[in-house]
Amino acid sequence: MGRLAVGMAVTVAVAACAVAAVVVGRRVKSRRKWRKVVSVLRELEEDCETPVGRLKQVVDAMAVEMHAGLASEGGSKLKMLLTFVDNLPNGTERGTYYALHLGGTNFRVLRVHLNGQRSSVLEDEVERQPIPEHLMTSTSEELFDFIASSLKEFIAKEGDGSNIPMSRRELGFTFSFPVKQMSVSSGILIKWTKAFSIVNMVGRDVAACLQEALARKGLDVRVAALVNDTVGTLALGHYHDPDTVAAIIIGTGTNACYLERIDAIIKCQGLLTASGRMVVNMEWGNFWSSHLPRTSYDIDLDAESPNPNDQGFEKMISGMYLGDIVRRVILRMSMESDMFELVSPKFKIPFILRTPLMAAMHEDNSPDLREVARILKEVFEIPEVPMKARKIVVKVCDVVTRRAARLAAAGIVGILKKIGRDGSGGITGGRSRSDTKMRRTVVAIEGGLYSSYSLFSEYLHEALNEILGEDIAKHVIIKVTEDGSGIGTALLAASYSS
Ligand code: BGC
Repeated sequence: MGRLAVGMAVTVAVAACAVAAVVVGRRVKSRRKWRKVVSVLRELEEDCETPVGRLKQVVDAMAVEMHAGLASEGGSKLKMLLTFVDNLPNGTERGTYYALHLGGTNFRVLRVHLNGQRSSVLEDEVERQPIPEHLMTSTSEELFDFIASSLKEFIAKEGDGSNIPMSRRELGFTFSFPVKQMSVSSGILIKWTKAFSIVNMVGRDVAACLQEALARKGLDVRVAALVNDTVGTLALGHYHDPDTVAAIIIGTGTNACYLERIDAIIKCQGLLTASGRMVVNMEWGNFWSSHLPRTSYDIDLDAESPNPNDQGFEKMISGMYLGDIVRRVILRMSMESDMFELVSPKFKIPFILRTPLMAAMHEDNSPDLREVARILKEVFEIPEVPMKARKIVVKVCDVVTRRAARLAAAGIVGILKKIGRDGSGGITGGRSRSDTKMRRTVVAIEGGLYSSYSLFSEYLHEALNEILGEDIAKHVIIKVTEDGSGIGTALLAASYSS
């Protein structure tokens, strides 16, 4: 071999080695980065852990906070608001009533016919429309004018109304925000939650604002009941099943209400009701306890929200936030690795990943996780997502949703504990807990997270069984109501009509 040939061979060999070194170097770097992704996931899993022991601490904390909120005004982050609903509809209600529902992302108007028989509630008309986003942060007059106009159009479609024998129309207003009620048909907005923030509204009587807007539109309609969505849900749940003692909403926001003995509401001594009971709106979205498993993502989400240090439980559980927690985790993973090759600028846009899309990725059963890839492409504009990255995204959704569902289950058991329906009353004189004393206990539930996200509801039930034990859990029935926040409110308008 001539010198030239040897020289060339050496050059080629050196170049090949260099290329190999670069390739190996890249692989090592990429593996290291991938290990980073895995460690972000591990850290998330650890921080979100909800073993049954921790859930039981949350149960106890919920029950303790309920007592504190009932003992004094401001005694707890749980407001435990009076609703003045002391009697739930019983089936004898008659007539035609309207309901308006303002709360999450949609606004609804409905009309309900009642003919004095439980089984024949007729919801003959419902109209739903997305709330124009600008109205959520505009002025109360603009918001209520929109509501009143929608009702006016709805009523106009009744034609001459000849089939509705009416003097004055009565309606129930489902207003899904914390309200300090003065009566069943009046109450002051304490604060906004979810995406609403209309400054000139806080501290004002919500029913009066609506009543004024109705008058501006020339409508002769009386606001007979001002109702939280949980209370409407309890009313409908109880109407169909008198063993219903509490109601939960897990949708855009989350909350619970339940039937309380009047003598347990210590902050309102002297309050008397014929039934000796009253529905209490807990506003559990604002519950907080050091036992809640909090991550750095929750802390950042809270700090960047319009209501920091508020609605802590809601921010871990409800539909408005779950997608955004997932987005924050994926953003960190993509910044610390080459998981998606590029860090899409879309990753940085708050709330761009809505919870229904997150749920669709979580529940993608296709072998190649096609839906995950499609959604990541659609939302974040990532053209190609490798299979292992798709799997990681599904795992992140799982961790976030599982924590939410298990915490919601602990909240429910907290209520049952407070009212003596968690089976612990069965422990007497050191005898073991028995289920013989446990009464059938129904909890009405509504909201997309529970009713449309099957992994969420599965995790919730699994946790209920773990916390209560199967013998007790079998007496606790979680029942989905069909539009309690609409029909239930119309029923209450009927019960409290003039
Ligand atoms: C509100 C509650 C409401 C819940 C569910 C929360 O953000 O504060 O009043 O019941 O959302 O809609």
